[in-house]
Amino acid sequence: MATIQVHDKYFIPYLSANEILEKVKQLAETICNDYKDKRPLFISILNGSFMFSADLFKFLTIDAEICFIKLASYKGTKSSGQVITAIGLDTDITGRDIIILEDIIDTGKTLSQFLPQVYNQQPSSLKIAALLHKPEATVHPVKIDYICFSIPNKFVLGYGLDYNGLGRNLSQLYQLKED
Ligand code: IMP
Ligand code: MG
Repeated sequence: MATIQVHDKYFIPYLSANEILEKVKQLAETICNDYKDKRPLFISILNGSFMFSADLFKFLTIDAEICFIKLASYKGTKSSGQVITAIGLDTDITGRDIIILEDIIDTGKTLSQFLPQVYNQQPSSLKIAALLHKPEATVHPVKIDYICFSIPNKFVLGYGLDYNGLGRNLSQLYQLKED
């Protein structure tokens, strides 16, 4: 198997680029159907969601807007439990149909800290779309409306997700190799 090394760790192929794109395309179709006569505003959470957001956005056939914010809660392969807002939300979301785009929902801490800030601004509706969800890792339960893949509680890399800054460029997903 094509094992890769990133920093000090080894990763094995997990989901192929085609499998991912196929799911993202299906999600785009579902969203287009659910928001047929609306003009949703996507809020993409950087950095990890950039690739997922770009691919999803390209598959949309309805009018839609997108903006990007930055929150970070991760250092290395274990959640640091710290959420920092680096780039804030400067678009007016009051009365808008909001869809939050997350690369992965792990403990749920990032979103559970961010969601009250969104609700405060009284959007007309709010849904969450995640490329990946690790149900076993949940500490702060969050209702996720759209999920591409539910995955085991193992560290993954690629398709926008990093391990200490590296691996985001990989077009497929890799999983941390157990020793
Ligand atoms: P949460 O706050 O614990 O849900 O973690 C959310 C953030 O941690 C995600 O948006 C990712 O940026 C990062 N993260 C969680 N699990 C992984 C992983 O397996 N690989 C890479 N980043 C991860
Ligand atoms: Mg993220």
